[in-house]
Amino acid sequence: MTKKYRVVQWATGVVGSASLKGIIRHPQLELIGVKVYSDAKDGLDAGEIIGADKTGITATQDIDEIMALEPDCVIYCPLPWHLGEMCRLLEAGIHVVTPCPYWFPFVQNPSTAKALEAACKQGGVNMHASGCNPGGIAERFPLTFTGWCNRIDRITMTECGDCRTYSSEGVMRDLMNLGKTPEEAANSRLKEMLAKSWNEPIDMIAAGLGSEVISYEAKHDFILANQPIETAIGTIEKDTIALNHYRHIGTTREGTEIVQEQIWYVDDIEQTRLQSKMDIPRSSGWRIKIEGDVNLIVDVDFPEGLSQDERVAQGLSTTGFHLVNAVPLVCEAADPGIKTYLDLPMITGRMGTHATPR
Ligand SMILES: NC(=O)c1ccc[n+]([C@@H]2O[C@H](COP(=O)([O-])OP(=O)(O)OC[C@H]3O[C@@H](n4cnc5c(N)ncnc54)[C@H](OP(=O)(O)O)[C@@H]3O)[C@@H](O)[C@H]2O)c1
Repeated sequence: MTKKYRVVQWATGVVGSASLKGIIRHPQLELIGVKVYSDAKDGLDAGEIIGADKTGITATQDIDEIMALEPDCVIYCPLPWHLGEMCRLLEAGIHVVTPCPYWFPFVQNPSTAKALEAACKQGGVNMHASGCNPGGIAERFPLTFTGWCNRIDRITMTECGDCRTYSSEGVMRDLMNLGKTPEEAANSRLKEMLAKSWNEPIDMIAAGLGSEVISYEAKHDFILANQPIETAIGTIEKDTIALNHYRHIGTTREGTEIVQEQIWYVDDIEQTRLQSKMDIPRSSGWRIKIEGDVNLIVDVDFPEGLSQDERVAQGLSTTGFHLVNAVPLVCEAADPGIKTYLDLPMITGRMGTHATPR
């Protein structure tokens, strides 16, 4: 009989809610607990949090209650995240799957990698960071396509996101710097963390290609709003950042460039609310481009006719579902430690109950 894993959903924001829905549907997973932060969600049934049928599982703010459940795995989706909490879970013998760093921390964050590895070894469990980007577009999918290639000169991953309907204040303002003044963005305490978050998948690609990165570069351009712009996190004020163009570039010792590019903005594709315009390929979606003796362009998009709300919701659901689908493989992986895409077998979706809403 296939083993069932007992899982806790930790934080139920935009991504955590998608992941919670995924746990309930997954035939190999059993939801046994939900950790929340907000007073309004404390004591609610997990189903109520995502607008689904009641599950009999009550959300709690109390970490000790969660630890006492002794889950096999926690899907850890808070903002901010805490390395100490991740290590506490791992040391207690609980596998951790997360959309937060650390996807491939060995080069950018060696001390963090060491702490996580030690906690995994102590608990006899694994830690895996996943997601959509990073966690999919940034490394897993391009690495797969490199299997079609021989000489590779450049690999570029581009994300375009009209983020007006993304309701995470923390991600939009603190991580993406939308609504900040250029000075605030330049002095952001998260600047270094953001660069490391994009350099980690660059390192993973280089490692997957049997190489290493010998130089890193970061470029940041932005465009300010020419008027107040309404978004799901409130107003992005005039003269604050309404479009960010980030590029993080790693060059391997062979000279292959690995480029992580994001165009995050709060306007429609015409950009009439911005002080100048940028050539944006499309309102939301991803492109993986490989240049070399094989030249590939892989576009990942949503169907025509979806509203922008639906595009953002589905884009963020991919993050939650990717986490859920990884859980059995992470729980089964041998030799306790950090498990990246270079360690795990292919992660696929699973058919399950259709008891939760779309
Ligand atoms: N890798 C990827 O592709 C990817 C994509 C998107 C997001 N992410 C990451 O995934 C995480 C969740 O993103 P999201 O979009 O779901 O964000 P979000 O909607 O802002 O949700 C974050 C949740 O964290 C909890 N929280 C509130 N205050 C907190 C505190 N002081 N400390 C810790 N947690 C607190 C809340 O949970 P409750 O509502 O349950 O109280 C909140 O809903 C973030 O760390 C983000 O960076 C990764």
